[in-house]
Amino acid sequence: MMYPEYRPRRLRSREEVRALIRETHLTKDDLIYPLFIREGKGVKEEIPSMPGIFRFSIDKALDEVKEALDLGLRAFILFGIPFHKDEAGSSAYAKEGIIQRAIKSMKDKFPQTVIITDVCLCEYTAHGHCGIIREGEVDNDLTLEQLAKIAVSHAKAGADWVAPSDMMDGRVARIREALDEAGFTKVAIMSYAVKYCSSFYGPFREAAESTPKFGDRRSYQMDPANSREAIREALMDVEEGADIIMVKPAMPYLDIVRMLRENLHHPIAAYQVSGEYAMIRAAGKLGYLDEERAMWESLLSIKRAGADLIITYFAKKVAASM
Ligand code: PBG
Repeated sequence: MMYPEYRPRRLRSREEVRALIRETHLTKDDLIYPLFIREGKGVKEEIPSMPGIFRFSIDKALDEVKEALDLGLRAFILFGIPFHKDEAGSSAYAKEGIIQRAIKSMKDKFPQTVIITDVCLCEYTAHGHCGIIREGEVDNDLTLEQLAKIAVSHAKAGADWVAPSDMMDGRVARIREALDEAGFTKVAIMSYAVKYCSSFYGPFREAAESTPKFGDRRSYQMDPANSREAIREALMDVEEGADIIMVKPAMPYLDIVRMLRENLHHPIAAYQVSGEYAMIRAAGKLGYLDEERAMWESLLSIKRAGADLIITYFAKKVAASM
């Protein structure tokens, strides 16, 4: 293919032509919208580092779901901010816990929604770690039992999918077993299989009040330097019964999304995390870049890399511009 016989610009001449040869399309069906739910009534408070994203009390969250449904979205992932935190994170699996009540009211009012829940302990433990602490460390196997309880409590409340984000070894198998034993064979597991220990979670931890009180998450989340390990993690979760494999964060790890696409036949989700959202919003506010275009480009790049689903705080904004 040599110039002048081949001229790539021929197919870029105008939008009608470009549209015909466009390889990647972002649709509303690709999007999952994250929601932060807190206690209280009539609460809708903006998260300072994430303009346009709020913590909602359940009543206000229902209004937000309605707006999102009207824009053509259908899938939501829920994060809870409880009143009560303790060493074991017990409010994470309380029958009347914040998430359990939120799921129930959403499914009652909007049965057509796909409700996904984040299964983790960090928002519910007093120390802010994603598991049970024993001798100063997060104990893997003790944590598995808590995660299984959380997942079953979400399923009982009506969740469609559960999404474990703790990065303990063996949790997908343990959760699958617990769900099946409790009769929830239809509840799917979207595993945060490849979750890196990332600085891009900063704004989320502010939003969810889940910053660890001591140490960091490096003994359970993945080292950003590793990619072969991502394949091992993903294959392990597939083997254990995960239905969907997630990579997180998205943009700094598009090589991983692509690699998994080539190695797996399961659906792949990518999480465009709080820091990725904050970065684009902040630069937009400062006038350093065109926010609308940066949003589109970032989401298209995630899709192009091979993601089937994208969890993004831009879900409403991008849906409104489709
Ligand atoms: C819970 C969890 C986190 C995120 C999703 N689930 C925080 C963390 O691992 O510290 C981050 C999402 C985001 O940054 O948008 N473990």
